[in-house]
Amino acid sequence: MYRWVRPLFFRLQPETAHGLTLQLIRLVESLPPLAALVRRLYQAADAPVKCCGLQFRNPVGLAAGYDKDGFGYRGLACLGFGHIEIGTVTRLPQDGNPKPRLFRLVEDGALINRLGFPSRGADFVARRLQAPRPAGLVLGVNLGKNRQTPLEEAAQDYLALMEVFAPLADYLAINVSSPNTPGLRQLQRRAELEGLLAALDEKRSEIASRLGKRVPLLIKLAPDLSQAELEDALSAIVLCGMDGVIAANTTLSREGLRTPLKDQAGGLSGAPVRDRSLEMVRRIVRSTGGSLPVIGVGGVMGGEDARRYLDAGAKLVQVYTGLVYAGPGLVKEIVSSASRWVPA
Ligand SMILES: Cc1cc2nc3c(=O)[nH]c(=O)nc-3n(C[C@H](O)[C@H](O)[C@H](O)COP(=O)(O)O)c2cc1C
Repeated sequence: MYRWVRPLFFRLQPETAHGLTLQLIRLVESLPPLAALVRRLYQAADAPVKCCGLQFRNPVGLAAGYDKDGFGYRGLACLGFGHIEIGTVTRLPQDGNPKPRLFRLVEDGALINRLGFPSRGADFVARRLQAPRPAGLVLGVNLGKNRQTPLEEAAQDYLALMEVFAPLADYLAINVSSPNTPGLRQLQRRAELEGLLAALDEKRSEIASRLGKRVPLLIKLAPDLSQAELEDALSAIVLCGMDGVIAANTTLSREGLRTPLKDQAGGLSGAPVRDRSLEMVRRIVRSTGGSLPVIGVGGVMGGEDARRYLDAGAKLVQVYTGLVYAGPGLVKEIVSSASRWVPA
């Protein structure tokens, strides 16, 4: 059915289409018979995975950025996701960059975005997460610093966000890799990352002794790191006892693109980033001897792409751009093709 609906959506500005999709998803969420129908249509078979001490009902998750404010995660859960990562959430509300800031590269099966963390802020999103969660759904919250926060004070933002979301989330993703917040990616450098992660680990212990819950922390990295930069980041991640890595965020590379829009500033996602992110997953697994769980993300447009990530050593995969191009049946397609996968 999405084959018929997609051309209509693609006539709209990408951000308008995204807003409309979220409204439809909220409509589904608010009408229980409709939610049950959508669930029946799209629910994927169980394919349980354990990762970071959490039990996932299947390996496919929704990547950060789709549901930034926790608006639609209950409706989105009807599409069969094993986990959903909300955010990026910033401590204070902020608008993000001026529009237009999201572009479709249809010929390439890609998107370019320079949203710059539009967020309703921590208090608003925390309220959205108070209500009971859909059964069996693992919920992650992706945290980022406000644009106005100087880099030297970034840790204060992440610590404050952790205080708010550690009690509400199953895991927290620390985003130090979006290309649209000036300077953010510098937090991936060894000294900066070690300082930040040590502070977060300490805060986590303090929260754990108060709440009796040790929240897993995963670090989301950029696919544009050199081998040496990646090794440095991994050293800090392992040293500070982090639970895993999400590889990877959008890329600044424009290699091999056909669409004229390729000159738009921002992060590229979708089919063209797949090989780059996959290679990053392989490098992380090789470098850590497979001891650090990796969530693979970037250009998962169907079951075959997901299989390549899992073969590369990723424990889970996430999708964003694939959902825009392939539609709501994507999770079911990936999970059902998993039963035919032969491990490499
Ligand atoms: C429009 C858009 C917004 C995004 N916003 C975020 C974000 O807020 N935080 C984040 O960590 N990643 C964000 N991402 C990156 C995705 O989570 C993902 O890492 C990247 O798009 C690669 O996956 P894909 O090829 O399946 O889209 C965004 C991606 C897109 C396309």
